Amino acid sequence: MTMNVADYARECAARGLRGDYSVCRADFTVAQGYNYNDEEQAVWRTLCDRQTKLTRKLAHHSYLDGVAALGLLDKIPDFGAVSEKLRKFTGWEIVAVPGLIPAQPFFDHLAHRRFPVTNWLRTQKELDYIVEPDMFHDFFGHVPILTQPVFADFMQMYGKKADSVIALGGDEMITRLYWYTVEYGLIREPGQPLKAFGAGLMSSFTELQFAVEGGEAHHVPFDLETVMRTGYEIDKFQRAYFVLPSFDALRDAFETADLAAIVARRKGEPALGPASL
Ligand SMILES: [Fe+2]
Repeated sequence: MTMNVADYARECAARGLRGDYSVCRADFTVAQGYNYNDEEQAVWRTLCDRQTKLTRKLAHHSYLDGVAALGLLDKIPDFGAVSEKLRKFTGWEIVAVPGLIPAQPFFDHLAHRRFPVTNWLRTQKELDYIVEPDMFHDFFGHVPILTQPVFADFMQMYGKKADSVIALGGDEMITRLYWYTVEYGLIREPGQPLKAFGAGLMSSFTELQFAVEGGEAHHVPFDLETVMRTGYEIDKFQRAYFVLPSFDALRDAFETADLAAIVARRKGEPALGPASL
């Protein structure tokens, strides 16, 4: 089940993935190698400028506080410098990777409060859409919210529990939880307007607006077991967005849930259709 770096590097090269996996360490990390050219720096600023106009209005304040505290917008961030700041907030740090890495080392990084961030950036031609997650998605999308203590705890817990859920046959279920919270989660705290925090939304110009402001977006109250049962499609806007009442609700539900019982109960059932909820 554990995949070694050399085998994975061969597989990624065969699939045409962009990152250089030949220089990976055993834990799939690499040096960031901070030598970005002017064009890459310009792409970063364009992406950040454009997206910040939306996040200012549509992102949860803890995400915005994270951006301000980490200082991510002027130039491509130096991972070491950001880690130093992030550690002071929640004990998290970031590590550079060449792109997607296998599930087990990914979970192991999360379990140790390390978030893997891709060390290359999309090109000017890919401002609106890119198939593989790049540095803008990983960094601008995922890292600021890791300054939020309760969410940071949830992420670590996810890394610690995911392997055991997969071992029971719950790989789709645990992936759906990540998808509908970490990537596409919304939150509406009591008396507050609806806001977004998921990284897939933070890094998407069009879907962020659709999810929060679009009259057609389908908003569903968060329920852990329902989330784990709900299917998704990767290359369309979501047919449903789950709305947390608080980050505590997410962490507490995941901490106290009997995940083995959920998997036993639901394994083999067809996924719920998000539009039908
Ligand atoms: Fe992501």
